[in-house]
Formats: sequence, C-alpha cells, structure tokens
Amino acid sequence: MVNLAMAIAIPLYIYPTPGAWDPLYKAISAAPDTTFNVIVNPDSGPSDGASNPEVVSAVTGLRSYSNVQLFGYVHIEYAQRNATVVHQEIATYASWKKTANSDIHLDGIFIDEAPYELKYLPYLKDIQDYVHEVMPESHQQVWTNPGIPIDAQFYEYADLVNAYENSYDDWNAGGKDEIPECLRQKSTVMIYSFPDSDAQLSNYTESTIAAGYNATLLTTSAGYTEFSASLMQFVHDVDSLTKTTKVKTLPQCAEECEE
Ligand SMILES: *[C@@H]1O[C@H](CO)[C@@H](O)[C@H](O)[C@H]1NC(C)=O
Ligand SMILES: *[C@@H]1O[C@H](CO)[C@@H](O)[C@H](O)[C@H]1NC(C)=O
Ligand SMILES: *[C@@H]1O[C@H](CO)[C@@H](O)[C@H](O)[C@H]1NC(C)=O
Repeated sequence: MVNLAMAIAIPLYIYPTPGAWDPLYKAISAAPDTTFNVIVNPDSGPSDGASNPEVVSAVTGLRSYSNVQLFGYVHIEYAQRNATVVHQEIATYASWKKTANSDIHLDGIFIDEAPYELKYLPYLKDIQDYVHEVMPESHQQVWTNPGIPIDAQFYEYADLVNAYENSYDDWNAGGKDEIPECLRQKSTVMIYSFPDSDAQLSNYTESTIAAGYNATLLTTSAGYTEFSASLMQFVHDVDSLTKTTKVKTLPQCAEECEE
C-alpha cells in the first residue's frame, strides 16, 4: 500500500545480526499509515543475501509490514562502474523471491553514486531498461541517488531521485531551497547529523511535507550504520504531521524547469 503522503526513507546499511533491526520494526509498527522506503544493503550490494539465513529472516521480517517498500542497494561509482557487473547485481536482486517459508522480494532498486553530468544519461537509461527487463512487473521502481539537485532530464530515468544528501546544517544554510518545486514529487532528501531537538525535528518534518517532497530521512547519526537517536520521534512526527500539514501546490515542470 502506497499512499499519497510523504514517505520515510531508510538507508538500512546495518547488518542484520539477530535483533539488529528491531528498532526499525518498532518504528514501522508505530506508523502504520506511513510508507517506509527501505534500502536493503547486505554487503554494498546483494552479495549472497538470498542464501544467508540472517538476511533472509530479517528481510522477511520487513516484508511482513504492508507499509514497507523494499529497494535493493547497488552502487555505480558515478557511471564509472562496469555495467555488466551492475546488471549482475540487479539480476541477483531480481531473483529474491517469495517462497513458502520466506519472502524477500523487492519493489525496486536503489542506485547509489548516481552521476549528475548529462553525458551519463545513457548509462542511467541502460540501468532503468535493465531493471524493467529483469524485475517482475510492478516491482520495477528505480530510485537514484546523486545526492545533489540535478537536471530534470535525469528524472526520466528514475521513479525517484534522492536529490539531497547532506548535513542538517547544510540543509538549513540553503539546501532546502535548491530543489526546483516541479521536481519535488519525485524527489527524496536524506539529512544527517541532526542535533537532536524535538522542536527542530517537528519543524523540519512539517516544512518538508509542506514543500512537497516524496520521502525523507532525518537522522542524528553521521552515517547509516546506526539508527537515529530520534527515530521514534521522527516517525511519529511524519505520521501525524502528514495528516495536518497542507502541501504546497507544485508547478508542472514545463512551467519552471524548461524555461
Ligand atoms: C566487465 O565485467 C565483465 C564481467 O565480469 C567482464 O567480462 C568485462 O571484461 C568487464 N569489462 C571491462 C571493460 O572491464
Ligand atoms: C512518490 O513517488 C512514487 C513513485 O514515483 C509515487 O507513486 C507517489 O505517488 C509519490 N508520492 C508523493 C507523495 O508524491
Ligand atoms: C522553523 O525553523 C526555521 C529556521 O530553520 C524558522 O525560520 C521557522 O520560523 C521555524 N518554523 C517554526 C514553525 O518554528
């Protein structure tokens, strides 16, 4: 189930030793009306995830929630990585299935280290074509991560673009105004090094919803190998504030981006 409210983005780069993902399961259950876009990353890529009992059991745990969408992590070294190897990793994720005892099927692929130079558009088109070829129908979302605002043409080769990945200080210093309004519905933002304060957290969440972003993460951590100290408060804020915050009416791209 995907609703039209802002989703929560979770880059889950934490290895699933027993219990390691429990804080996330708890957060997901606490916000049943909010979609969680979770990026599963067994080992900087799929590795042997499908034959690893710890990964299978933990991902099956995530699959048991109807408000979760799962994306398999692949990195592409800003379009310098061998495309054959990238294809192989995507094909591995495409083989993650639902069986009688487990369910590790994915909804799409997360492309980390995505390029921002227009000359690499064909590289991204090739990836999108390949995802459409090997992933099952209706599980073919492509979510790229250039980490900075990029040209609107890149959005043709992705369902979602993570257009901002930086610290909370940078976001406040001007980052929050950098992503064109017409691209926000397909844009996600990931903000780290948040100095934990409840008032600032609610302020961030409310303004990000109002600005019309598709999904976001705000974490107190400087990376994604531990959960945010304010994960529960953040999840609670997103879940409740989406119900009361008015989203700005966003312009079409033709009006703003192609002028
Ligand atoms: C890309 O990887 C494939 C598979 O490992 C290999 O056969 C091929 O030679 C590589 N291409 C380049 C340009 O390194
Ligand atoms: C987020 O993006 C997905 C995939 O493109 C789309 O189906 C959904 O409606 C978007 N959500 C919002 C709130 O814009
Ligand atoms: C949210 O924080 C910004 C500065 O980061 C401030 O300008 C704004 O007034 C705050 N809004 C609320 C509702 O507190």
